[in-house]
Amino acid sequence: MSCILSENVTMQDGSLHFAGMSVDSLADKYSTPLYLMDEDRIRKNCREYKAALDEVFGCGSMALYASKAASFKAIYGIIAEEGLGADVVSPGEIHTAVLAGFPMEKAYFQGNNKTDWDIEYAMDCGVGYFVCDNKEEVEAIDLIARKRGIRQKILLRLTPGIDPHTYAAVATGKVDSKFGTAIETGQAESILAYTLGLDGIELMGFHCHVGSMVFDSDVFIRSAEIMLGFIADMKKKYGYTAKELDLGGGYGVRYVEAQPKISISENIRLLGDYIKDCCGRLGIELPKILLEPGRSIVADAGMTVYTVGTVKRITGYKNYVSIDGGMTDNPRYALYGSSYTVLPVGESEAPGFKCDLVGRCCESGDIIQTDITLPKDISRGDRVAVLTTGAYNYSMASNYNRLPRPAMVMLKNGSDRLVIRRETLDDLAANDL
Ligand code: LLP
Repeated sequence: MSCILSENVTMQDGSLHFAGMSVDSLADKYSTPLYLMDEDRIRKNCREYKAALDEVFGCGSMALYASKAASFKAIYGIIAEEGLGADVVSPGEIHTAVLAGFPMEKAYFQGNNKTDWDIEYAMDCGVGYFVCDNKEEVEAIDLIARKRGIRQKILLRLTPGIDPHTYAAVATGKVDSKFGTAIETGQAESILAYTLGLDGIELMGFHCHVGSMVFDSDVFIRSAEIMLGFIADMKKKYGYTAKELDLGGGYGVRYVEAQPKISISENIRLLGDYIKDCCGRLGIELPKILLEPGRSIVADAGMTVYTVGTVKRITGYKNYVSIDGGMTDNPRYALYGSSYTVLPVGESEAPGFKCDLVGRCCESGDIIQTDITLPKDISRGDRVAVLTTGAYNYSMASNYNRLPRPAMVMLKNGSDRLVIRRETLDDLAANDL
């Protein structure tokens, strides 16, 4: 038995296994395209965050699962059982968490443009915290909270002005970002001063998120330094003590062997040493530290299984292998050129067939991965698996070309259960009048 990329992906007697289960048997049972999720891995990832945060910062500090990475009922139950909070970004995510019985006082509502209706709905659902992006939002929350006779807990989202050198679409901590309020321009200070005068709001502290797919712990350390410096300044100027500092999400994961595998607990330890030292130097109390991991909780817990339909050899040019899914269930190559590892599922000849793995949509950009190698005898009916698809696949899936979204099966301790049923053709037309 040898493992590939991650310990939960193994080859046993020539056939691919995920979370200890035969991928072929699961595809026989549930059909393809199919999302598989390894519950034990999700729990392991949660526990790594929880144990490290408890050890380094003490209780009160917490990881919030960024549910934009994969939002569906079953995941909120798992997250709640593991003692994590949740980062939610829309009424849809809030509603799903509520349906799952998630303790909503541990939910943090993010986003750069919450409508009045969103704010009312989140308050109706008992969402614990709002992470406020801008002054209009603070104003709207204050007004709605006062009408309800409550004081709403919030964090202010600030931009520390850090470029994490990841891909542009996910770099969010820079001053010119659409998210948050900039420290550098003085606007963060003025929003703080404004917020402190509001009766409907209890300001608990600050938030920042610098980007996603970050492998360099220095990025988190630099943003902590800037945020703590701001906290110390504001303490001097306004006598305000921040109780919480949320440093966002963003730790990278390994999609292909060439990428590094980072240790979350080691990174949290390094961050903790720096933060404690910095608080000492600045003479401020250590705030409760929050992190918002999404990808690093679910990415390596996911795999997508497809069936090959056509194998096109364009003599003298290139080869295409078409599958029964594509950019509708995984748009990440089409959007970001993301790397993935692709493997044959069943017993096969040695690899040697160079090709692009493409989807079934009527669009040339519908590509899962280019320049991969599959078995020489790959043909219609064979199955292939794409690894590390647990994050930002199902949550970014679409019905383009009126394709139904795949089912998702949760694997736990050798057993499988359907957690998202496959969409039907009637589902696709359900809203049409
Ligand atoms: N917190 C905030 C405020 C965020 O905006 C995000 C991700 C996270 C936490 C979680 O970051 P993570 O740990 O998952 O890196 N669709 C892109 C990723 C977009 C990330 C958006 N924000 C992708 O497929 O790579």
